[in-house]
Amino acid sequence: MKPELLNADAIAGALESSYWRVSVVEEIDSTQNYLRTSNPKSGDLITVEYQSAGRGRLDRKFDAEKSSALLFSFYFEPENEVKNLGYLTLLVGASVTATLNEITNNDNFKCKWPNDVLFNQKKVAGLLAEKTSSGVIVGVGINVSTSKEALPVAHATSIFLATDRQINRNELLAKILHNLENDLLDWQSGKDLTAKYRSLSATIGSQVLIALPDGSSVEAKAVDIDETGSLHLDNGQLITVGDVIHLDSKLS
Ligand code: BTN
Repeated sequence: MKPELLNADAIAGALESSYWRVSVVEEIDSTQNYLRTSNPKSGDLITVEYQSAGRGRLDRKFDAEKSSALLFSFYFEPENEVKNLGYLTLLVGASVTATLNEITNNDNFKCKWPNDVLFNQKKVAGLLAEKTSSGVIVGVGINVSTSKEALPVAHATSIFLATDRQINRNELLAKILHNLENDLLDWQSGKDLTAKYRSLSATIGSQVLIALPDGSSVEAKAVDIDETGSLHLDNGQLITVGDVIHLDSKLS
């Protein structure tokens, strides 16, 4: 089945507020790069059919076949001082995860700390948060209709492969943005959203192997997260940056 194309009018028509300003583009190097160089305002969002140089976390590539994924970046600038801007990645991850469960009517989509969404331990989406001088550019890539052959790695999946459902990307984006707006407004008004993340986490409760930025690694059980976005381990360590493998599932 041919995927529907992204459509700015369809997305705008499904949104109930003017919090987001959505631009649709056919091809670009990376939506992250676009926002970094376009002097964005909070709520500006760009979504594309294809990225020629999509980026993942830790300088990795993020490739997706044209029109098979929902790829977007938005700019967020806090209106008032937000104590723990580092929590934003977890907030967006939980919002996207909850929306995927809602739209596909199940509860198997889970958050993997810090920036992935899994379905039965397979990666279905990734997030990238990059600070600017006054805010954060957050990028999200969700494999929507990706076929098995087109998956970038063996331990990845798509919404279609996981649930057998063809999801309309315009509807999916509008639903994500609706939920994300509510979460961002709650968070900005000081609400603690960690309970939502905990309830969706595949990492908390797992035995994990974490590669740390200095080249060392740590193995322990993940027991919690906090309002700064840190991951708590049962050996007392608090992890702020790292690459996690869930040892229970043998999938990274
Ligand atoms: C990861 O899995 O490491 C993060 C992937 C983030 C990919 C998204 S796709 C839209 C935005 N533009 C990019 O170049 N990257 C992010």
